[in-house]
Amino acid sequence: MEILGVAGSLRRGSYNRMLLRAAGASLPPGVRFTEYDGLKAIPAFDEDDEASLPLSVSRWRAAIAGAGGILFATPEYNSSVPGHLKNAIDWASRPFSATVLRNKPVAVIGASTGMFGAVWSQAETRKALAAAGARVIDRELAVPFAHEAFDEAGSLRDGDLTLELDNILVELLDAIKQRVVA
Ligand SMILES: Cc1cc2nc3c(=O)[nH]c(=O)nc-3n(C[C@H](O)[C@H](O)[C@H](O)COP(=O)(O)O)c2cc1C
Repeated sequence: MEILGVAGSLRRGSYNRMLLRAAGASLPPGVRFTEYDGLKAIPAFDEDDEASLPLSVSRWRAAIAGAGGILFATPEYNSSVPGHLKNAIDWASRPFSATVLRNKPVAVIGASTGMFGAVWSQAETRKALAAAGARVIDRELAVPFAHEAFDEAGSLRDGDLTLELDNILVELLDAIKQRVVA
């Protein structure tokens, strides 16, 4: 079983990438965790480009298609989803009749340096994924004050957040298993 990890931040020192890695480290043996690294290369969505798909988009769609489920960790930009992440979801949602996101189990978590932990961005990411037909786990993990949230080993310091992260991963894995059985 493979989970694709997608960080909604492109910067090298991203706290959301740290959160994603903390999640990957908590997965049980036998679950492969792959971090997607190609978001920055995806061009702005343009219907005119759909006839001759950019390679970066084909690669993105193939990564989604090949994964059992996806874990997004997103920051919040101006109370909303970072533009490049929404753009990547838009590309993945097409064509609507055959989107690779259809029934794909997905979970969304997030971190911000503010006090709310990117909750609005997470909610909007979930909304866009649901509109695209994904099977969205109805849970959030809001990591506030992200610059203080991780220890030297990259683990979340807060026990409640760690527990909530584990619960989300269990639910995501269950949704993937149910889909395989169905
Ligand atoms: C353009 C921009 C807009 C931001 N808007 C918000 C915001 O609305 N709410 C918030 O909590 N943090 C906001 N922040 C601060 C981010 O939480 C902070 O930069 C965080 O570290 C980004 O995640 P990353 O570490 O994964 O890159 C914003 C940052 C940027 C660069």
